[in-house]
Amino acid sequence: MTLLEIPSEQYRERSIPVLETERLVLRAPRLGDAKAVAMLANDRRIAENTARIPHPYRTGDAEDFISTANLGSETVFVIAQRNGALVGACGFSQLDRHPPEIGYWLGVKFWGKGYATEAVRAVIDHAFTDLDHEALQSSARVTNPASRRVLEKCGFQWTGVGLTRIRALNSSAPIDKFRLDRGLWVSLKSWGKVTSRVA
Ligand SMILES: CC(C)(COP(=O)(O)OP(=O)(O)OC[C@H]1O[C@@H](n2cnc3c(N)ncnc32)[C@H](O)[C@@H]1OP(=O)(O)O)[C@@H](O)C(=O)NCCC(=O)NCCS
Repeated sequence: MTLLEIPSEQYRERSIPVLETERLVLRAPRLGDAKAVAMLANDRRIAENTARIPHPYRTGDAEDFISTANLGSETVFVIAQRNGALVGACGFSQLDRHPPEIGYWLGVKFWGKGYATEAVRAVIDHAFTDLDHEALQSSARVTNPASRRVLEKCGFQWTGVGLTRIRALNSSAPIDKFRLDRGLWVSLKSWGKVTSRVA
């Protein structure tokens, strides 16, 4: 079932926390973000690497995205720098009993700064700590090594290949699929607590 198919009585806006990282703030999108979201997302390099972002992407598309965000089974955050400037969006959707699927994109001028990894790690921590999920999944086009690397840096393990529909291409494309289980995440978090000092 997609978000569009959820009966209207199930449309309940859920309260979305604010997640803070060293450089970023993740929060629920607001209608006032629409122009900034459209400016960032209106790039074919983003649309062609995500399932549902159309191209071109106009302010009206951003308004639609924002007004349906965090209804039903999706959790959506915009990603902002600490000064409030938006840099992208991320979140996860859950269909039936499958593990939630994480997705993310950043405006092109913000690529290569480690922001996606930082934001995805915050979403993962939220999903396991606050929401008690047992596993998460994600995927990346086989032609998208940057996204694959983000998932690997977050501990995701490759599970196989598949095909997914890419709206901006109006066709399907091959993807690598990934999964992160709670047990591995717990191990990674405990390693993170180890500190080393020069004697
Ligand atoms: C994928 C995306 C979110 C990455 O954002 P980002 O903030 O640049 O990611 P990070 O800086 O956290 O990490 C990117 C990693 O990929 C690596 N990378 C980037 N381009 C690469 C390439 N062509 N080949 C191999 N590795 C590459 C970077 O070196 C970095 O790894 P490192 O830290 O080990 O050096 C961004 O490129 C994007 O929005 N792309 C379009 C939408 C998209 O693909 N979304 C994901 C859907 S699955």
